[in-house]
Amino acid sequence: MSSQLTWPSRSHGCGAVTVNDIGSRITVCGWVDRNRDMGGVQFFDVRDHSGLLQVMCEPQSVPPEVSRTASRLRNEYVVCVRGVLRARKDPNPRIPTGQLELLAESVDILNVVTRPLPFPISEAEEQEPPREDTRLKNRVLDLRWEGGESWLRAGGEGRGVLLPLPPLTLNLPLSVRTAAVYNNPLPLPPLHFPPLSRVQPGEWYALPQSPQLFKQMLMVAGMDRYYQIARCFRDEDLRADRQPEFTQLDLEVAFMDDVALQGLMEQLVAQIFKQLLGVALTTPFRRMSYAEAMDKYGSDKPDLRYGLEFVNLSEVVRECGFKVFSGAVADGGVVKAIRVPDGKRISNTRIKPRGDIANEAVAAGSAGLASIRVSADGSLDAAKAIKEGLSGQQAEQLLRETGAGPGDLLLLAAGPTDVVNRALDRVRQLLGKELGLIKPGDHSLLWVVDFPMFEYNPEEKRYQVGGGPGGGGVPGVRGGGVPGVRGGGIGGGSLRIYRRDIQQKVFELIGLNPAEAQSKFGYLLDCFEYGAPPHGGLAFGLDRLAMLLAGAPSIRDVIAFPKTAQAQCALTGAPAPVADKQLHELHVAVVSSGGPGQQQQ
Ligand code: AMO
Repeated sequence: MSSQLTWPSRSHGCGAVTVNDIGSRITVCGWVDRNRDMGGVQFFDVRDHSGLLQVMCEPQSVPPEVSRTASRLRNEYVVCVRGVLRARKDPNPRIPTGQLELLAESVDILNVVTRPLPFPISEAEEQEPPREDTRLKNRVLDLRWEGGESWLRAGGEGRGVLLPLPPLTLNLPLSVRTAAVYNNPLPLPPLHFPPLSRVQPGEWYALPQSPQLFKQMLMVAGMDRYYQIARCFRDEDLRADRQPEFTQLDLEVAFMDDVALQGLMEQLVAQIFKQLLGVALTTPFRRMSYAEAMDKYGSDKPDLRYGLEFVNLSEVVRECGFKVFSGAVADGGVVKAIRVPDGKRISNTRIKPRGDIANEAVAAGSAGLASIRVSADGSLDAAKAIKEGLSGQQAEQLLRETGAGPGDLLLLAAGPTDVVNRALDRVRQLLGKELGLIKPGDHSLLWVVDFPMFEYNPEEKRYQVGGGPGGGGVPGVRGGGVPGVRGGGIGGGSLRIYRRDIQQKVFELIGLNPAEAQSKFGYLLDCFEYGAPPHGGLAFGLDRLAMLLAGAPSIRDVIAFPKTAQAQCALTGAPAPVADKQLHELHVAVVSSGGPGQQQQ
């Protein structure tokens, strides 16, 4: 197995090949279901959600290392096999692909099994049926096992004797179809009863920030594809595009690379725009690295419907005599500028201290906003300290780097990189609207990719999982992308870590010791040891998407009963104190109360 994680895409599902594909070079991914050595020729079956395909690995037709890899395969290892499909000499009428076999050219082990399976999954290992409590505790493997069962049954012959239990894989799609009958529900606030268990005294349920860990486990279970309209809860400060309870279109896929996943999402977004707005979006959407987005726009969800990109002037002003600029660079910070063409549109009152544009920068934590106007003769018109602090050569360089000419206005911020980015991002957004730079009906969809995996938290003096896609507990190994529209992130996701050893290293790096990691995420880490497939996923914020489509300035405009900026329901008064009787039933005592809304439980 390679020491690195990879997320290969397949060309066919194992059960999706037909006699028409004979002679084609194909790629399948899935779980090894029985490996046997027939006089040096290795035969193994690869199983996925669609079925099972026999692979043959002949020593004379592959390099020795491929044969060696094939001979090492154990049941439930996750593999990617490339080769040519051909007709099988000894057809197996029991399975739908029984006429076919894949002559391997390469065999890659994507993941192994590192702990004994609680019950066998392969059809070849029939045993006593596992007990129900064992199945429930190992639901992930139970689902994978039943997945195998359902296609076998579809092929006309199943493990009927082994399976007196409900065929989950048939029931789950049925529940999906049932939900589809009463399609398109209007989400109403579900935050209505305390998430405490009356049955298990003193124990708490947790409301999901997102169903991410469950959907990942579905992939380990062999479900292959999942999507859901999911209600999510986040106890964070409210903003114009944030609510404590919101709705995601949430999905996860196995055996798909980032480009294919993005392509799938682009189709969906393009279809939504076409059907609801009659707007034809151009696909593929633009891609931009997180580093570039932060550098040029100071935001991981930049609005690209207008320019006003930042120019980094740190090198130009490093040695200058204006201490606010040179000092910021000496302290490890930056000086960046926005060039406003035809700058007389912006009056001095607005950019001076307490002016509305300067206030945007201050609200983001910047000490202020500096400005330089370029006069008709090309000379700089600015505060005395700036003019005198810049040498002739530095002034010339500054004009060259920013491309500023007569009549232009430069707005500059100096300080720590994150403060400068936040400040100029706010200034840029205000200018974008104010200067009428956004064409009506214009849409600019963008994937921001390659998010940093870790961010340093200076207050806690430790690294934490990057705030980008897949953040929040179990990180994504690579930023999948955020389609940023109108400066608002409408989605986030990532390709996932799918190996316990690597996930554990990540936990160590963020200061979670093995015991803590096991107690918080043991169920996920344990199931990564049973052959987890490479997978990835993403969630769109449906409310944010609705905001975008409606052109609504606030998320409250697209939610039936939204919470106020104080995270309260103005209509019902929630959150509210709970009756003593109910607290008693829940075994909860209020130890201090700082007034309405301040209760601690
Ligand atoms: P993320 O945290 O980026 O990713 O959330 C995905 C999308 O959900 C929306 N969203 C919100 N909408 C309204 N109010 C909120 N408080 C709020 N928080 C998030 C945004 C955001 O882009 N589990 C990952 C997804 C994944 O990796 O599969 C996740 O939740 O539109």
